[in-house]
Amino acid sequence: MNSTNTTTLVTGARGKVGRGVVARLHAAGHAVRAASARTADLTVPDGVEAVELALDRPETFAAALHGVRQVFLYPQPAGIDAFVTAAEAAGVEHVVLLSSSSVLGPDAEQDPLASHSLLVERALAGSGLTCTFLRPDAFASNALGWAYAIGRGLPIRLAHPDAHIAPIHPEDIADIAAEALTGTSLTGTAPTLTGPESLTFREQLAVLADALGREIPVERITRAEAEEEMGRHMPAHVVTSLLDLWAAADHGPAAVHDTTRTLLGRPARTYRQWAGENTAAFGRG
Ligand SMILES: NC(=O)c1ccc[n+]([C@@H]2O[C@H](COP(=O)([O-])OP(=O)(O)OC[C@H]3O[C@@H](n4cnc5c(N)ncnc54)[C@H](OP(=O)(O)O)[C@@H]3O)[C@@H](O)[C@H]2O)c1
Repeated sequence: MNSTNTTTLVTGARGKVGRGVVARLHAAGHAVRAASARTADLTVPDGVEAVELALDRPETFAAALHGVRQVFLYPQPAGIDAFVTAAEAAGVEHVVLLSSSSVLGPDAEQDPLASHSLLVERALAGSGLTCTFLRPDAFASNALGWAYAIGRGLPIRLAHPDAHIAPIHPEDIADIAAEALTGTSLTGTAPTLTGPESLTFREQLAVLADALGREIPVERITRAEAEEEMGRHMPAHVVTSLLDLWAAADHGPAAVHDTTRTLLGRPARTYRQWAGENTAAFGRG
């Protein structure tokens, strides 16, 4: 332990959750250092220090970790062993990891998406650091992947339009992360985080359509068509993993943990709220 360290290092500070964590800690008067692999693209509140940190480039670790007591960490297995070593050497006491509920799946070790977070959890669990693993389900903001098509009035083509998800608002994850970094009730725990209701993709698109005031056509396509279309934007193993996940989610409501209420004592933000706040992203662009 290094009792002289006071700063919280927030990785992923350009990301949807990391940005919110920086803002919350800073507003509450905590010393925060915002980290990004691309500091030129990073905007931070006045008074927040920005630092270059690429989680797959260990040569960036020591400077970013100097004087740090806690870390909010995005999962990156490529450099995690070196990161743990550097964090321990710097006197870091506590790491709050943005993990994923996918680590709880039966095939997590073989699944490329789940194993990404699982490998990082394991490296941290095997270290001397105190660790808190936040395990969210799908983010409501994944709907931004539909923005291009919706902005152009194109149909949303899905192999599993009736797959059930309990999408969580990224600001709720940021609230829970801030609690984990400033309070003690979550320290050492590994909560699964979901939104307040199970919604199929079709139902999510209906909520978005309502918020936008226009129809969003949904078209069911075959798995082969989805593989071809998704494969234009992401690696084949990720496509397979996502399609398997959605196929398994076709058969009934998603588990709702409603963790914002249980952990913070207030209702979770709804998908409708996220849609209402983000209509600008679904314009023509
Ligand atoms: N999305 C989900 O449904 C979901 C569910 C469970 C867990 N997770 C976990 O949560 C993490 C974040 O998820 P996310 O996909 O929503 O990503 P995100 O938070 O928007 O961004 C993650 C990081 O990607 C980099 N990045 C690359 N291009 C960017 C851009 N244009 N704008 C902002 N940041 C950009 C940034 O790091 P640099 O600044 O360092 O480049 C950023 O911190 C992932 O590690 C994932 O494992 C996600």
